[in-house]
Amino acid sequence: MSKVHVFDHPLIQHKLSILRDKNTSVKVFRELISEIAMLMCFEATRDLPLEEIEVETPVAVAKCRRIAGKKLAVVPILRAGLGMVDGMVSMMPNVKVGHIGLFRDPKTLEPVKYYFKMPPDIEERDVIVVDPMLATGGSASAAITFLKEAGVKHIKLMSVIGAPEGVARMQADHPDVDIFVAALDDHLNDHGYIVPGLGDAGDRIFGTK
Ligand code: PRP
Ligand code: URA
Repeated sequence: MSKVHVFDHPLIQHKLSILRDKNTSVKVFRELISEIAMLMCFEATRDLPLEEIEVETPVAVAKCRRIAGKKLAVVPILRAGLGMVDGMVSMMPNVKVGHIGLFRDPKTLEPVKYYFKMPPDIEERDVIVVDPMLATGGSASAAITFLKEAGVKHIKLMSVIGAPEGVARMQADHPDVDIFVAALDDHLNDHGYIVPGLGDAGDRIFGTK
């Protein structure tokens, strides 16, 4: 069974409270999504392996540790996932970024991949999938299935808000994928929106409503 990490850090919770507010402007919403992603990235990469190196300071040789060449990729689910990319890249400036676009087939309701562009060596990389909302879990589960079909072996999912329904779906479909959220909300409403949530993340990031 995968682990669910809920970040209760005061900085994250403070920013999340402003993010949820319906009166928050597009500008501030964008900034906060990015900042929350940056803070979550800090914790979600805590298990990166380190190697010992020696560094000559102006005074002496210091035994230091650096990240041991782990190959990573960040994969946003279009479109709202894009809002989390800058925050991740500001913490990991050389990280490769793949993109997954999905829509739901109106007849079958199955997620259909309309865009899938990954770094060429994606099967060698550990992947952090980012999408602010984990609602029914349909999008995240499908995106992760497509990544596994492309040969990716180690995947984490990072969302700002998760619903219990989405967490349950992810744990059933992908028990190997750890989930990182800033909040676990109460339930989904009849339209598949997270309650209390923050509304439509894509619309609030891109100002399309
Ligand atoms: C939102 C969100 C997730 C999805 C979550 O995207 O960013 O991708 O809904 O819902 P689910 O867990 O029930 O699949 P949306 O479909 O609104 O598209 P957008 O990012 O283009 O706004
Ligand atoms: N997608 C969103 O953007 N918000 C929700 O609450 C659920 C799905």
